[in-house]
Amino acid sequence: MRVIIQENYENMSKWAANYIAAKINGHKDERPFVLGLPTGSSPIGVYRELVRMNKAGEVSFANVVTFNMDEYLGLPHEHDQSYWYFMHDNFFDHLVDMKPENINILNGMTDDPEGECARYEEKIASYGGIDLFMGGIGVDGHLAFNEPYTSLTSRTGVRDLTTDTRIVNSRFFGNDPEKVPAQALSVGIGTVTDSKEVLVLINGHNKARAMAAVVEGGVSQKWTCSALQLHKAAIIACDEAACGELTVDTYKYFLDIEKKERL
Ligand code: GLP
Repeated sequence: MRVIIQENYENMSKWAANYIAAKINGHKDERPFVLGLPTGSSPIGVYRELVRMNKAGEVSFANVVTFNMDEYLGLPHEHDQSYWYFMHDNFFDHLVDMKPENINILNGMTDDPEGECARYEEKIASYGGIDLFMGGIGVDGHLAFNEPYTSLTSRTGVRDLTTDTRIVNSRFFGNDPEKVPAQALSVGIGTVTDSKEVLVLINGHNKARAMAAVVEGGVSQKWTCSALQLHKAAIIACDEAACGELTVDTYKYFLDIEKKERL
């Protein structure tokens, strides 16, 4: 696993956006580049930078197919907290050449959640899998909506949200955890780790405990993001604040080994 430590959120976002753009630009197949995407506050800076680069002609999304990680069950597209709404509002609507038919987001209003999730897995497979899955993590180390103790081989399915996650996410629902949907559809940890590359963003001091568990702890269902340790090509891009609970040795090691990558 690589850990790219940047000074602040802005530099972390620029680094990740440059990395993704370089991967898209370097993709010479007929087959589209398949990109997995997260929601949340962590990726907003990456989306902003990718939009800037797209408008400046530095990266094209014409041959990119996207799959989002997750969606709340029971929220329609037009709900301003649905992930469908978030993705269009923060990203897709601003790209000059993203094809709407290439955007895939789990349908939170489905009356057949299991079927919806099975079809999502099939569609990912029909493209030959995901080339690069970008993600963020929760304060409890969850990746997508794979809460602690979700199987590390899990596939796309229905997930119950923990009380803690509903409390954390209630900041977007008038600070009322009861208004946060109790369930979501989410790709599994296995779905993410099947991707050729995984790039996870971790920023802010409130993620420092999870960051230490994921980087320095063992592979454990308790911190589902720790499954990245078994991936062949996983990267964590983070800011200094997220490194607060790492040992000095670990912190210095990654700064040293990745010194050319520091913005
Ligand atoms: C939600 C999403 C996750 C996301 C997490 C962190 O729970 N399901 O995919 O990574 O929030 O969000 P933020 O980036 O706002 O801290």
